[in-house]
Amino acid sequence: MYRTHNNGQLRIDDVNQKVKLCGWVQKSRDLGGMTFIDLRDRYGITQLAFNETLDKNLSVKARKLNREWVIEVEGIVKERSSKNLKIDTGEIEIEVEKFTVLNESKTPPFTIEDETDGGEELRMKYRFLDLRRNPLQENLALRSEMSIEIRNFFHQNNFLEIETPYLIKSTPEGARDFVVPSRMNKQQFYALPQSPQTFKQLLMVSGYDRYFQIVKCFRDEDLRSDRQPEFTQIDCEMAFVNQQEVLETFEGLIKFLFKKILKTDFPKPFPVIAYSDAIEKYGSDKPDIRFEMELSYLENLAKGKGFKVFDEAESIVAISVPGGAEYSRKKLDELTDWVKRPQIGARGLVYVKYNEDQTFKSSIDKFYDVSNLKEWAKKCGASPGDLLLILSGKKSDVQSQMNELRLLMGSRLGLRDPKVFKPVWVVDFPLLEKDEISNSFHAMHHPFTSPKTSDLAFLETNPENVRANAYDLAINGVEVGGGSIRIHDRKIQEKMFEILGFSKEEAEAQFGFLMSAFEYGAPPHGGIAFGFDRLCALFGGKDNIREFIAFPKNNQGRDVMIEAPSEIDQTQLDELEISLPKLKG
Ligand code: AMO
Repeated sequence: MYRTHNNGQLRIDDVNQKVKLCGWVQKSRDLGGMTFIDLRDRYGITQLAFNETLDKNLSVKARKLNREWVIEVEGIVKERSSKNLKIDTGEIEIEVEKFTVLNESKTPPFTIEDETDGGEELRMKYRFLDLRRNPLQENLALRSEMSIEIRNFFHQNNFLEIETPYLIKSTPEGARDFVVPSRMNKQQFYALPQSPQTFKQLLMVSGYDRYFQIVKCFRDEDLRSDRQPEFTQIDCEMAFVNQQEVLETFEGLIKFLFKKILKTDFPKPFPVIAYSDAIEKYGSDKPDIRFEMELSYLENLAKGKGFKVFDEAESIVAISVPGGAEYSRKKLDELTDWVKRPQIGARGLVYVKYNEDQTFKSSIDKFYDVSNLKEWAKKCGASPGDLLLILSGKKSDVQSQMNELRLLMGSRLGLRDPKVFKPVWVVDFPLLEKDEISNSFHAMHHPFTSPKTSDLAFLETNPENVRANAYDLAINGVEVGGGSIRIHDRKIQEKMFEILGFSKEEAEAQFGFLMSAFEYGAPPHGGIAFGFDRLCALFGGKDNIREFIAFPKNNQGRDVMIEAPSEIDQTQLDELEISLPKLKG
């Protein structure tokens, strides 16, 4: 037997017990006649004591142990003379009688501590060492606990977990596909699923009226802190349900998780906001409603006073920042530079300070007098001491720029506490999105989303205004899930493909299987998928989902530890009958 206990287990009541422990050397301290070693495993740290007066040879051997060596020790649990009450095992230590080195370790390239000195790239290259660190171990334990509770919820609610294939044909979820060549079917490719969308719908046709799956999805898209090329969804579908029932069921899942994992109750139903209201009020379809600072529109008040920028703008949007009137010129210049960065794309920033003494100071004093600015302040609900920040331009651009600025100001004012959770359902999404350049339509969610029955009549005449039975769940400004009631009628599905620019033949070639299934008794159905990595990060109080994935990819989509993607062998290429052109450049 390697060990009788783990390193987080022993307490004062265990004193005088003979025990065996295994683990990694966290650090060692040499205090003349005494050598102390912190022995670590994922359960905690236990102090080992080597007393030179009891066994000189053993102490000499112990002094040679270095960080991250793996050892097995045997000894007696003793009460410590100087206790460390910060750790659970801090009242005891092991008086070591013998030990064996199970494996030596090179000096790690960064310290295995909570706050490490390793940069992200280095930590990713040595992810197996990074994963030894407490914060990551806690994150992965949280993830494991969450997946168990998710399964408990679904099991209690009569859902079946059904796996769907990974080698499939493209599903249009808006990103590019990762493709896999087929050896047995020359010059043909599988696509890895962007989601199991069509399969879960087919399962509904087959009568499995409550389905879920914790499943990997693959999307070749630009990466950010909340996006990975392979990520995990909690994918769900139900038959014979309307939108309200779907929302209630999955609100139940989220509440269950909050209760089980974070011991947090949400006694009231989650608030619901229409997509158009979310955009109008917050400039975002995933609003962070932990704080107000809503958008106000100043077109009616600010146009026609000779300020060309405003006069020519489609929209003039302001937020009122509580207490912001104290902002210095330098800070305001920094904010202006921030909104002008290409990622945000604003042309400039106008400010109005509503000073405590009720005077105004603005960057556009030349064009507007106090009575004008007072009206603006009133419209924005500002009080003396507040700061108005104003952007102008094309409405949709300004709204999304203002969303970014609002979030920044919310963070600066400490209004975005990661321990406070504010979920909100966003409903009534538009069915379609117009691509101004190609003058064509995309499905805002995906092509299987059902239009609202009340809007069906406009599908031909005014497709832009058709709303969908689609919904997202946003928590603290993060889109954690999205879904819809689906089309289950062949004719409507055909119409949808037509609007999206598919010819009859193309639609048949790509989605004939689904439309054919709709001809064999397809029940009304709908569902949702949650981003599991995002939920874990949110519950763990962090922004970056990588910290909750054991082996994530970097921003270039690379796994720098295993060096993937990589070239493949010529024989593999030959077998696939693939010849590669010479690399450009
Ligand atoms: P959607 O595309 O909205 O819907 O995805 C559902 C949820 O998955 C998460 N997500 C991601 N997480 C990490 N990295 C990514 N690259 C990534 N992309 C998406 C988000 C998102 O809300 N088939 C539909 C669901 C349905 O209609 O039932 C779908 O996949 O949290």
